[in-house]
Amino acid sequence: MDLETFFKNQNEKKQLKILTCGSVDDGKSTLLGRLMYDSKNIYSDQLSQTQTESEKYGTQGKKIDLALLIDGLQAEREQGITIDVAYRYFETENCKFIVADTPGHEEYTRNMATGASNSDIGIILVDATKGILDQTKRHTFILSLLGIENIIVAINKMDLIDYDEKIFQEIKQSFKLTSSQFDFKTEEFIPISALKGDNVFIKNKNIDWYKGKTLIEELEQISLFNYEEDFFSLPVQWVNRLSSNFRGYSGTISSGKIKVDDEVQVLPSKEKNKIKKIITPSGEKDIAVKDQAVTLTFDKEIDVSRGNLICSNEKHNYFSADQFASHIIWMNKEKMLPERNYIFRFINSQIVGKITDLVHKININTFDKIASKSLGLNEIGYCKVALNKNTIFNSYKNNKRLGSFVIIDQFTNQTLAAGVIDHELRRASNISWQDMSINKNLRSSINGQKPCILWFTGLSGSGKSTIANIIEQKLHNLSKHTYLLDGDNVRHGLNKDLGFTDSDRVENIRRISEVSKLMIDAGLITIVSFISPFKSERKMARELVEENEFIEIFVDTPIDECEKRDPKGLYKKARSGQLKNFTGIDSKYEIPDKPEIILKTETKNAEDLADQVLQYLKNNNKI
Ligand code: ADX
Repeated sequence: MDLETFFKNQNEKKQLKILTCGSVDDGKSTLLGRLMYDSKNIYSDQLSQTQTESEKYGTQGKKIDLALLIDGLQAEREQGITIDVAYRYFETENCKFIVADTPGHEEYTRNMATGASNSDIGIILVDATKGILDQTKRHTFILSLLGIENIIVAINKMDLIDYDEKIFQEIKQSFKLTSSQFDFKTEEFIPISALKGDNVFIKNKNIDWYKGKTLIEELEQISLFNYEEDFFSLPVQWVNRLSSNFRGYSGTISSGKIKVDDEVQVLPSKEKNKIKKIITPSGEKDIAVKDQAVTLTFDKEIDVSRGNLICSNEKHNYFSADQFASHIIWMNKEKMLPERNYIFRFINSQIVGKITDLVHKININTFDKIASKSLGLNEIGYCKVALNKNTIFNSYKNNKRLGSFVIIDQFTNQTLAAGVIDHELRRASNISWQDMSINKNLRSSINGQKPCILWFTGLSGSGKSTIANIIEQKLHNLSKHTYLLDGDNVRHGLNKDLGFTDSDRVENIRRISEVSKLMIDAGLITIVSFISPFKSERKMARELVEENEFIEIFVDTPIDECEKRDPKGLYKKARSGQLKNFTGIDSKYEIPDKPEIILKTETKNAEDLADQVLQYLKNNNKI
């Protein structure tokens, strides 16, 4: 069956997903209103409401304000800006359209990126009276980054410049200067007046110098269903074993098309097979295409599991790797911190990993590359990512679904960022583990101890180092082998290059976690005394070693008490503004949720608290 017949059988009109870029000032809402009004997708009740609202909002005597047809958020009307992604629907005889309507301002970059990631085509709206603005460049960059290959530049408000061809041509040339830096497949320029309706659905004789298509003709003709070009791929989301003699592989087709009897392979095993059945929610089919949810069965039984990829048998370009380079759009108020563990969610897997390097941040208005240590809300950076294990992915350019991911906070489950993969990195592939004859158990057994980390966390001046010091003396007297890593001391050597910004503290704790892990391997009872203010890095330290090896000790001294003690005079300095980023004052301390031990220094002396820890070690057979 060919694709035309497929669509007829499915009784489906072609569907086009559009992203409109521009702001209210450029006439974006008016254009959307025009598209809906002229395609007769407006219902009479909406029209009469708009007329009433036009009167209420005083729209300068125009009978119907098309912008008001766009039933966006109330706030948009009140503040005059669009604040979220809203989806609008309209259809013509040949095609259905879904329009992602996103705000144009820089602070809504993340909303625009969300809209762009789902769209097939971008309409960039330019106000002919203003020409190409920084905003236009920013939108073009985001469209390119999110892999939109087809763009239409709608040069609006032609009526206000007397349909002047010269201005239109100048804007076109100036836009091309920007877009030549990117790789769009099609790029069309249309002079329009959304307000008058010129060249949206109907040609206008005032623009007889323009010989091209109207906006709607252009949209209808852009060929989207180029499944023939794409390799087939299906990330397996579920292995379906509904009965003992049935085994199917379910998921949504992420690229290309599949027919019964097609030869496929499964990654990463590279085992070959043949498609026996294609089962869809509306029954068995001979053919299925991108975006359809299907269950496939194979000719012969092989081992396939969730996260595997079924793809065409031709030479493929998928990677199975744990490191890659990617553009990341940060979408949260909490800043991105290199080296912090985050959850990376891909279409076929969810893996803990981290951004190891922020290669550069990008000025999204000028495309300049800027050195930076971190990304804030709505900022875009080029980053290297390292995951804790391999996954199958592709470059975003080749496969939008297999080449994109979102970053999620480990504790709050909030979405922090979205990323598009550029290419894999092979940095770690030539390094393997060496087996050693003597391991940590043999090393520690000589001393009659089990290696562990006593991880002290708490505010500066809370008493961590004092108690840690007493414990080490007591262990030493018991002939135990120990080592004490103390924040102030380590910062004189190994971590001399680090200060007290959030990202430096993350790196401080990352290095100490790795050092502690080596010390565990050396068979030592390792005492770590660092403020270690963030849950995330304490969790990372815990997860580097075996369960029961990490003992988190929260030295629970209220800040007032620490400030009263102020052994190094630092609180005083911080209060007077001489010391920035001081923990508890202008830098946060996250209290541990479930520490193994809590030490209350206000009610007990350091000696007794040290004994409390020793008792814990004895009870848990560490000494
Ligand atoms: S951590 O936050 O990165 O874990 P760390 O334990 O290494 O901090 O160092 C804390 C010690 O550095 C404090 O005990 C204090 O003596 C000193 N210090 C200097 N500046 C600061 C600051 N801005 N915040 C906290 N401690 C500081």
